[in-house]
Amino acid sequence: MNIAIVGATGLVGRTFLQILDERNISIDRLYLYASKRSAGTVVTFQDQSYTVMETTTANIIDKDIDIALFSAGSTVSTTFARDFVSIGAVVIDNSSAFRMDPQVPLVVPEVNPDDVLQHQGIIANPNCSTIQSVVPLTVVQHLWDIKRVDYTTYQAVSGSGQQGIDDFDRTAEGESPQLYPYPIYNNVIPQIDRFESTNFTFEEHKMIQETQKILHKPDLAVSATCVRVPVKHAHSVSMIIELIKEPDLERLREQLHATPGIEVIDDPEQQQYPMPLFAANQDAIVVGRIRKDLYNPCLLHMFCSADNIRKGAALNAIQILEVVDKKILRK
Ligand SMILES: NC(=O)c1ccc[n+]([C@@H]2O[C@H](COP(=O)([O-])OP(=O)(O)OC[C@H]3O[C@@H](n4cnc5c(N)ncnc54)[C@H](OP(=O)(O)O)[C@@H]3O)[C@@H](O)[C@H]2O)c1
Repeated sequence: MNIAIVGATGLVGRTFLQILDERNISIDRLYLYASKRSAGTVVTFQDQSYTVMETTTANIIDKDIDIALFSAGSTVSTTFARDFVSIGAVVIDNSSAFRMDPQVPLVVPEVNPDDVLQHQGIIANPNCSTIQSVVPLTVVQHLWDIKRVDYTTYQAVSGSGQQGIDDFDRTAEGESPQLYPYPIYNNVIPQIDRFESTNFTFEEHKMIQETQKILHKPDLAVSATCVRVPVKHAHSVSMIIELIKEPDLERLREQLHATPGIEVIDDPEQQQYPMPLFAANQDAIVVGRIRKDLYNPCLLHMFCSADNIRKGAALNAIQILEVVDKKILRK
């Protein structure tokens, strides 16, 4: 398979390389792209040296590429994704540029892998907090119908790329923030991305609309409050799920245990629960704090943590690549 990575020098781009290696993806040719700043940088991958190219149409259209993994933000995706499609590549895009486009499948392989078959050149990778939420949510949905979901997120600074980590370090040293509106060190900021006219943020709208699209439930009631917290790696999400009937928690735990990609850590007596500490640098979505509401037995509470750069971005995209390889390229 011939693979291109756009944004290869970033946090997600470097993790793409690490995961391609870990999962033994067979690569014939590898092309690395970034901005003009990093053009010429030499990257070593599996004992071979690759020179990073500037992302330009001229550098794309003379190549033979099967799959292009994009992780350089929405503007770069909007400008260059169609150049890759024009040479026959399937683009797997990490940005929000195409996620809500009805022509573009939005895929979490544990949830809706067959949606890749509808692709017309571009497949979108969902928002990091959405990915880690919909995997356990789908397990619940297969057991009992869901009426409503309320998310509260606790999102790590690495979700904003290297600039987020730099703002954490800078404000920890007492300097003024350059990325977030307030110091993130010793603080939590209940704003991720811009505010919309609804007074919800764009990040919150993303979680709402993406959940509906991935679950194929356009009318599902979903709400979200997205919060940046002073954690470097791994996002957490608290979910309150309203069901049409009272859930059987033992059945749910069994099903969660049996689901690939989920690790259940849920032992209150031993103070065992999901935390970024257990999720960072891991592939699994860690799920716990599973309990029924004290007042409404049809309300289910759960908490999950996952590495936002791995399952929230690079790993999910490479799992999509594996599905495309199996269901489309090898057919
Ligand atoms: N971090 C996460 O948790 C996360 C999760 C889901 C999705 N994403 C998506 O992934 C994107 C990258 O995230 P990241 O965390 O890897 O950010 P990052 O560490 O800041 O890296 C950004 C990457 O984009 C490249 N880039 C920037 N401007 C470019 C341009 N004009 N043309 C070509 N390449 C350009 C950079 O290349 P240079 O080295 O040349 O600057 C770098 O490789 C985000 O914008 C977001 O859309 C991130």
